[in-house]
Amino acid sequence: MTAPTRIVSIDHRSWENAPRVDEAASPVAELEEGKVLFFPHLRFELSAAETALLDPALVDPKRKNISLNATTGKLTGVAVEDERRDAIGALVRRYYETTRRFLDRLLPHYAAHLHTPTTSLRLHRIGTWKMSWRKDDTRLHVDAFPSRPVGEQRILRVFNNINPHGDTRLWRVGEAFDTLSARYLPQMPPYRPGMAWLLHKLHITKSRSAYDHFMLQLHDRMKADADYQRNGQQESIEFPPGSTWICFSDQTPHAAMTGQFMLEQTYLLPVSAMTHPELSPQRVLERQVAAAH
Ligand code: SIN
Ligand code: FE
Repeated sequence: MTAPTRIVSIDHRSWENAPRVDEAASPVAELEEGKVLFFPHLRFELSAAETALLDPALVDPKRKNISLNATTGKLTGVAVEDERRDAIGALVRRYYETTRRFLDRLLPHYAAHLHTPTTSLRLHRIGTWKMSWRKDDTRLHVDAFPSRPVGEQRILRVFNNINPHGDTRLWRVGEAFDTLSARYLPQMPPYRPGMAWLLHKLHITKSRSAYDHFMLQLHDRMKADADYQRNGQQESIEFPPGSTWICFSDQTPHAAMTGQFMLEQTYLLPVSAMTHPELSPQRVLERQVAAAH
């Protein structure tokens, strides 16, 4: 039996207003269940001058992507110092502002709570930037980053394929979070709070909660598990140029298989700001750990 799709397609074309209710029954409910909201015709228009910036040579060779911290204005990962740097900064900021206005309309319940925006411009073709298996996003994973512990925050991401040559971005999307975490939970080493304290004291990492510890383990174990990668429940989905998709990437297993040129906007959201906090990975894991003891 094939599982029902976890992609919710919404035919909506404008950033400047929210889909009507009959177009998207409840985007909040679908997102919080870990589904992907897919807007096949929500294009982020680039000018000819902006399209000329779609060149992997503009990325600092030491970095995977160009990124903007919209709060501080800090732009990182640009390899050039000329006027193209300012043009890239303006493009990335425009994407940040556009997604922010759109989310405020699409998910008004979240509006006052979204914070810590990070915008990323991904210019490399998937598979051409060499990396370790741990950073290999062609393997199914949920997002968890060693340098960015999140604690009680969710990771909400807005992706857009800006490829000017017609290349789709091909993803695999996996199962619901609770079945995923239930499978890996028995393999997890016990969490030792003293370890997090020690790492923090040594300034090796920012303070990492039991949740962050678990999510890093889950991320790594999924990526290292060849059987799960091949046989785990999953579906493929092609995101064409001119399309947008949104998900909680800490919850929705995903893998990016092919494609080039994408904008991606990250926001953090407190679990307490969700409509159904009990669906968060934080609360799911707490329940599963409690049930195991
Ligand atoms: C990821 O977030 O894992 C990669 C997304 C992408 O490059 O499409
Ligand atoms: Fe990811």
